[in-house]
Amino acid sequence: MADLKTEIERRRTFAIISHPDAGKTTLTEKFLLYGGAIALAGSVKGKKTAKHAVSDWMEIEKQRGISVTSSVMQFNYEGYCINILDTPGHQDFSEDTYRTLMAADSAVMVIDASKGVENQTRKLFKVCLLRDIPIFTFINKMDREARDPFDLMEEIENELGIKTYPINWPIGCGKEFKGVYDRHKKEIISFTANNGQHEVEKMEVDINDPRLETLIGEQHRQTLVDDIELLDGASYDFDMDAIRHGKLSPVFFGSALTNFGVEPFLEDFLKMTTPPLPRDSSEGEVDPFSKDFSAFVFKIQANMNKAHRDRIAFMRICSGRFDKNMEVAHIQGGKNLKLSQPQQIMAQDREIIDEAYAGDIIGVFDPGIFSIGDTISVPSKKFEFAGIPTFAPEHFARIRQKDTLKRKQFVKGTTQIAQEGAIQIFQEPFKGMEEVIVGVVGTLQFDVLEYRLKNEYNVDIIMERLAYQYIRWIENKDIDIKQLNLSSDTKVVQDFKGRFLLLFTDSWNINWALDKNKGLILSEFGR
Ligand code: G4P
Repeated sequence: MADLKTEIERRRTFAIISHPDAGKTTLTEKFLLYGGAIALAGSVKGKKTAKHAVSDWMEIEKQRGISVTSSVMQFNYEGYCINILDTPGHQDFSEDTYRTLMAADSAVMVIDASKGVENQTRKLFKVCLLRDIPIFTFINKMDREARDPFDLMEEIENELGIKTYPINWPIGCGKEFKGVYDRHKKEIISFTANNGQHEVEKMEVDINDPRLETLIGEQHRQTLVDDIELLDGASYDFDMDAIRHGKLSPVFFGSALTNFGVEPFLEDFLKMTTPPLPRDSSEGEVDPFSKDFSAFVFKIQANMNKAHRDRIAFMRICSGRFDKNMEVAHIQGGKNLKLSQPQQIMAQDREIIDEAYAGDIIGVFDPGIFSIGDTISVPSKKFEFAGIPTFAPEHFARIRQKDTLKRKQFVKGTTQIAQEGAIQIFQEPFKGMEEVIVGVVGTLQFDVLEYRLKNEYNVDIIMERLAYQYIRWIENKDIDIKQLNLSSDTKVVQDFKGRFLLLFTDSWNINWALDKNKGLILSEFGR
């Protein structure tokens, strides 16, 4: 049996976050290529097949199938065992995307150099901040026209509220992209594009070395010298502690498509990140190196076969070693059990596994017993991991069953689908479940809900989209909801835990509510 400490120490578990099209898939493919996990680029996910008619369930399933197989990828590189967590971006952007970040120990943020910080990155970033995980920035597509690097740094700092530390600095961009200067190694990695072929060369040079002119041209040399002087004088100091606590983001420039700067990024990133970190629980921090196995469920994937309402529960191992024959305790369910068909995903292939370690993600067969956030541990332990917050949905609809006689199935179906975490359901306070307000993070989930209610629960629904755009949990415990002074188009609702929330049509109304109700505390996360 492999040594527990050595196995855990070599684990690195991270998520890649970005706005669609920034280059997340391309970068992931390059990582996998370095790890030898895939033979050819272009096989991480069938993006082309993901562009589908959302009304077609088979297509939805196909896409969800794709997002399952690519949701966790494990490979080995230079002695490290790397788990990449995918955060689906396109139509299947959902609460799962947020929850996945709860399973990661760090995040790689891919930014398109011509676009800067975009909407989805902003949303995912906020979730990373909840846990103060280290965030590494890869500014991609430098082989295309790019924005001024100083502007990009400023935008990241102002928009995301994290300090930046450029590890390397770009020399030109687009057709004039000459490479990057590594500030620590004092090395130029030069880039030459020749009729679609790209050559990369490394050269250790002093920034004032006259040979630099031959390599990148006088104008670029001068700009680089000026830029580096400015950076050394004005940028934040390299501070490993600030990086580890998500306060300072190391920034790398490169081009995933041409495979420029990817390997140096991966190498530095792996050195700067940590093995699995301790996790908070009801009994204090859980040490990942403890010999006792523990894990929590962060994602539940419904079965594609409607005849079986079984599911796959994805869990992140937080401590110790998992063995496929071991008996574990499901804390919330109050039962001991064996996890059946434990599987892990290696690039595109799923395989049944015998063992796994802290930092790894395993998917297990779930006969409908697990919920998001549940703790699994060795039977002798009885702690619970800190729960996973609920994230604010952004699209809302009112739903009711067409046939009033189907009320039982309607309630059962919506409740079960909500338990899986695909949708959130809200009710108007003090009213029953005749009508339910459904909130989703990505609109594809509305189609999935409608289709599943019909096919799995035999209920047709009437869905009416609502104009609300924002929802906020009321954090004040002792508030009298009836006394709140709210604008006429703000609505009070309750979630299934009985917590009160406010639905707003625009951000102006949020400010209005805060202004008119002194002491009111609103949150984007339900904790
Ligand atoms: P995503 O997963 O973040 O959505 O992005 P993805 O990697 O799919 O990349 C989006 C598009 O950007 C792709 O082009 C990809 O080839 C391109 N791209 C990624 N990295 C770079 C880069 O460093 N430089 C340049 N110039 N382009 C890059 P596409 O035409 O939309 O798709 P495809 O037909 O190439 O798959």
